[in-house]
Amino acid sequence: MNKLKSKSVSLVTKEPLSGSVKVSSDKSISHRSLILGSMAIGETTIDNLLESADIFSTIEALRLLGVNINKLNSGTWTVQGVGTGGFAEPNNIINFGNSGTSARLIMGAVSTCPISIMATGDDSLVKRPMKRIIEPLSLFGAQFSSRGDGFLPIRLKGAIEPSPINYISMVPSAQIKSAILLGALNSPGETTFLEPIKSRDHSEKMLVDFGAKILTKSVKNGNQIKILGNSDLKANKIKIPGDPSSASFLIAAAILVEGSDIIIEDILQNPTRNGFVKTLIEMGAKITILEEKKVNGEVVVNLRIKHSKLKGVTVPSERVVSMIDEFPILSILASVAKGKTYMSGLSELKVKESDRIGVMRKGLESCEVKVKSGDDFMIIEGKKKEEIYGDVLIETFFDHRIAMSFLCLSLISRKPIIIDDSSSIDTSFPNFFKLMNNLGAREIFS
Ligand code: S3P
Repeated sequence: MNKLKSKSVSLVTKEPLSGSVKVSSDKSISHRSLILGSMAIGETTIDNLLESADIFSTIEALRLLGVNINKLNSGTWTVQGVGTGGFAEPNNIINFGNSGTSARLIMGAVSTCPISIMATGDDSLVKRPMKRIIEPLSLFGAQFSSRGDGFLPIRLKGAIEPSPINYISMVPSAQIKSAILLGALNSPGETTFLEPIKSRDHSEKMLVDFGAKILTKSVKNGNQIKILGNSDLKANKIKIPGDPSSASFLIAAAILVEGSDIIIEDILQNPTRNGFVKTLIEMGAKITILEEKKVNGEVVVNLRIKHSKLKGVTVPSERVVSMIDEFPILSILASVAKGKTYMSGLSELKVKESDRIGVMRKGLESCEVKVKSGDDFMIIEGKKKEEIYGDVLIETFFDHRIAMSFLCLSLISRKPIIIDDSSSIDTSFPNFFKLMNNLGAREIFS
């Protein structure tokens, strides 16, 4: 325990978790509402916007591109759209911080505008691959100069006379898909995109709401989208639902702590995002849907979660994309499930905010959990809860989901598990500790 920092923390509870909480707003939908609002004509109002570091990266980038974005009161923001090709050339470098979604989607939106930008990010983002968007966006006519083989910092010169593209993505990634759809908006004619497995579809849904000419259909080899460029987007009023990826930590905490019984309200329950809850139910989790409603074309539910004893399962690889951000917390639950949990098709985890296969393995092994892993799989052998001793320091590599995952395991370890740095949690879930407090857990700073 010699690497303690001022932000080292653990999470503990003496009692079962109980109560009802509203999870913070969805990060993916928050980014998209700001970006599409910026590309529309007129004023878009966003209610319940996530106010986290990643979203502030998107706001700052759009402001540098000449968009007027204002906060009316807590959670309510307005965006004065500049039209699909209307971004102004920034007078400074755009720093996307830790946010891959901001970087990839905004470079997509800029790729068909006649301006140049310089872009960079924090120590984690500059290690994440951008070639996956550079290749398709170059087909529109955009020009990129990047560090090394497609890494930030990047200079992007948008196409002056963009042409539509036809692109098949081999990687199931909503960020690649969204970058292309945003680029297509300012490109005359029809752009076609095909992905092998349908990734989260918030961009497509929101584009329909903003009046874009877009058609999605399931075809023999995947999910196909056709979008017509050069037509205006109409300003909109948007209400953001609760983030299922943030909710996953509260769900896991209730499952882990003996006697817990909690309700989480207003969680987005989109079929492209619900793989985690599906998997937990197969593992034997006591999760029930209490109420279901529709908000801005998305299904939103209240969930009741009770403490449960889990069993190991095999997660089907075609489900991975619908729970891509939930593997760190699933690995925590698998480490106290009865038997082994088999997870495959995980290669994308290696290029997230950290190498999530390697970092989870290292952390779990320090808690004496048996893990086998390779470039795209993990097998975790569950232990009895009492055998998770704790009293270890976990290196999180400034990855918010790694940090929150080990804090959840700390709730049941015999001695607290300490994470080296909790500040990354602000990127996606700034009220994580507040909600955990409301349910009865408390943090201990080292
Ligand atoms: C996101 C898509 C996913 C996800 C990320 C948010 C989005 O990334 O991991 O946290 O908002 O489009 P990929 O599309 O790269 O898988």
